[in-house]
Amino acid sequence: MQPVILAIESSCDETSAAIIRNGKVLNNVIASQNVHQKYGGVVPELASRAHQKNILHVVNDALTSAGVTPSQLNAIAFTRGPGLLGSLLVGVSFAKGMATALSLPLIEVNHLEAHVLAHFIQTEHKELKEVPTFPFLCLTVSGGHSQIVLVRNTNDMTVIGETLDDAVGEAFDKAAKIMGLPYPGGPLIDRHAQLGNPAAFSFPNTNVPGLDFSFSGIKTAFLYFIRDNIARDPQFINNHLNDICASLQHQLISMLMSKLNQAVDQTGIRQVAIAGGVSANSFLRKALLSRADAGLPAVQAGWKVFIPPFEYCTDNAAMIAMVGHFRFLEGKFSGWNVAPLPNMTTGSDAPSL
Ligand code: KG4
Ligand code: ZN
Repeated sequence: MQPVILAIESSCDETSAAIIRNGKVLNNVIASQNVHQKYGGVVPELASRAHQKNILHVVNDALTSAGVTPSQLNAIAFTRGPGLLGSLLVGVSFAKGMATALSLPLIEVNHLEAHVLAHFIQTEHKELKEVPTFPFLCLTVSGGHSQIVLVRNTNDMTVIGETLDDAVGEAFDKAAKIMGLPYPGGPLIDRHAQLGNPAAFSFPNTNVPGLDFSFSGIKTAFLYFIRDNIARDPQFINNHLNDICASLQHQLISMLMSKLNQAVDQTGIRQVAIAGGVSANSFLRKALLSRADAGLPAVQAGWKVFIPPFEYCTDNAAMIAMVGHFRFLEGKFSGWNVAPLPNMTTGSDAPSL
């Protein structure tokens, strides 16, 4: 059998649908929600309303552009969690309604595991790309999470380090908001940082024990830094935007890389991947690539690194489709009473009843 699966993603502020046939992703339709830009962050109520408005069109587009009819589907996969309850509800309810009408099995997908497994996405048009072998480490960094995951298999993951407070994407977005930049601020900080001097200003490195992270200290320090400098020079942000962005980004990414180094030393695993929205960051991508460089000291050299294509870094349904395919082959389906799980954790494999 060559399973054909429709996948739906609606955990935060992107409504997305994708079709996967026999393990090859055919498309990845995404409707982004610009309504949050002026609020400096995602407004949950507005997000769920926008999902309601978009979901039918997005699913229809995915089916039509793949040339697949509903009767050709073998299952419907959907993001069960983690995410915003109202947003998840839209995707889960839509998937359940459609699966009931078509008598199809449902497959629940953990959004964070999907970010990790985005590295296994293959499409019909490109040559087969090299995928990580097990075990590997994955730094999953997004607007809601920062984790180092030990991946033993497609269905066997353990979080070995995570943030104790804010996610790194949140630190990027809050810093951007403090500077008056629109949401999401991560890509804008990245763009300005490329023109700035990373050594112009220094920000504190909050080091917590083990492989965990903490980003709330740097966020507060940044708030005071901007406040104090504006008191001296009202044009401080305008005059130094590129340098501020470069210095902040340098510190945030250094904090991530230092824990990733530690995780490699501790586990002895040298296959290292990054995933999630912040994995689109140019400085993080460069820092990771430099670890694959044979010119480094022996202890750091020779990592085999996996960096996702930009389109699979931020939220998308292609990654949900990929996990849907794996779960289909395992025969792992959800009950009809499956409900959203806003706090679903990586590796939890939560039962749906
Ligand atoms: O994975 P994602 O799309 O959604 C969540 O699951 O949270 O990640 C969104 C996050 C936002 O915080 C956004 O600012 C950040 O990813 N982001 C970036 C970049 N592109 C997106 N952060 C830094 N540099 C980027 N280039
Ligand atoms: Zn995400």
